[in-house]
Amino acid sequence: MSAEPSVVRPRVGVWLIGARGSVATTAVAGCAAVTAGLHPPTGMVTETPDFADCGLPPLSALVFGGHDVVDCPLPKRAEALAAGGVLPPGLPSAVHAELAAADREIRIGGPLPGDTRDEDDLVESLASDLRDFVGRHGLARAVVVNVASTEPVPTGSALPASSLYAAAALRAGCPYVNFTPSAGLHHPSLATAAGSSGLPYAGRDGKTGQTLLRSVLGPMFAQRALAVRAWSGTNLLGGGDGAALADPAAAAAKNAGKERVLADTLGTVPEGEVHIDDVPALGDWKTAWDHIAFDGFLGTRMVLQTTWQGCDSALAAPLVLDLVRLVARAHEAGLSGPLGELGFYFKDPVGNGPAALGEQYARLLGLAERLRRPGGRDGVPEVRR
Ligand SMILES: NC(=O)c1ccc[n+]([C@@H]2O[C@H](COP(=O)([O-])OP(=O)(O)OC[C@H]3O[C@@H](n4cnc5c(N)ncnc54)[C@H](O)[C@@H]3O)[C@@H](O)[C@H]2O)c1
Repeated sequence: MSAEPSVVRPRVGVWLIGARGSVATTAVAGCAAVTAGLHPPTGMVTETPDFADCGLPPLSALVFGGHDVVDCPLPKRAEALAAGGVLPPGLPSAVHAELAAADREIRIGGPLPGDTRDEDDLVESLASDLRDFVGRHGLARAVVVNVASTEPVPTGSALPASSLYAAAALRAGCPYVNFTPSAGLHHPSLATAAGSSGLPYAGRDGKTGQTLLRSVLGPMFAQRALAVRAWSGTNLLGGGDGAALADPAAAAAKNAGKERVLADTLGTVPEGEVHIDDVPALGDWKTAWDHIAFDGFLGTRMVLQTTWQGCDSALAAPLVLDLVRLVARAHEAGLSGPLGELGFYFKDPVGNGPAALGEQYARLLGLAERLRRPGGRDGVPEVRR
């Protein structure tokens, strides 16, 4: 009996916008660590049995690159994360070669201070970096993932940086994931181009902590017919994300997604606000406290309080890897447009899907089934580029 021929999967690019940030560095280091068998894939949904045989690219097939506006080398960034307890001690040196390889593929993005290029020139320059990356590595495709600092909600018609990168992804023919609350592909000026691109895309704003809990607890209150009177939350965090969210306009963009989950699961917006405080001493470690005041039978007043203490990048990085694999496979299978089935991963999902985590997981399994269909395999005529 002859051995089954080994299938060589094409390599897939991961183009990270904000490639020198905490989430990006943790995703690159984590992918290398799991591929080398140094750590189990804890937190990666696509490594669970429900996603076997979907044709997802293996972690070993991922090639990293991206744009950033700072020049701190990735191995040095990883050392800083290890010193802060985000990465295990010793991991940066164990995966130094992979970090250095990704570092060589990071290009200076934009717009830079005093940049004189107009929008079209900038988009062309960013798209050309992407095409060059795909061409030099002979990649089957590259997924662009926005993990750059959160921007304020744009006003006026000028495209914010996140939308310039999203336009560049479309121009280079790359599927796009927005892991941040920034406008990205959501900008009204890009709606037509996104619709006619034939590319799949997903977003916005990864659901990793407080909102993840809200998407479980909101449906619980609604299904048990308990009346939520007020839902208030406070987040304490440091790191680059904490500094970016110290800007009230950036924090407003983030909070809109957190509030949408409550409106969608409870059917009404309860009293209460979300606050985000920058506490630099906490680094990447976030404490999120929720206080939920609710009424039971005969108006009896009760309170639920939750305290979430998470390491933001360790929560986000496995989701970034999941999304890359799912969106790359969706592109390979010829899917296009907003991937509402990925609402499981986002605070403010594209499309009109459910807001409750359990229903979102059921939709994600539906996508896995579509990707598993033999008709969607590599090499079939419906594959779009
Ligand atoms: N960690 C989580 O749990 C989580 C969850 C949801 C969303 N997010 C979002 O992910 C993003 C990244 O978070 P982080 O903790 O890695 O932040 P970070 O500050 O460590 O990294 C952001 C990176 O973006 C770069 N950047 C800024 N402007 C840029 C531009 N114009 N072009 C290219 N790069 C640019 C910065 O130089 C930096 O390296 C944030 O927007 C955050 O809100 C994170």
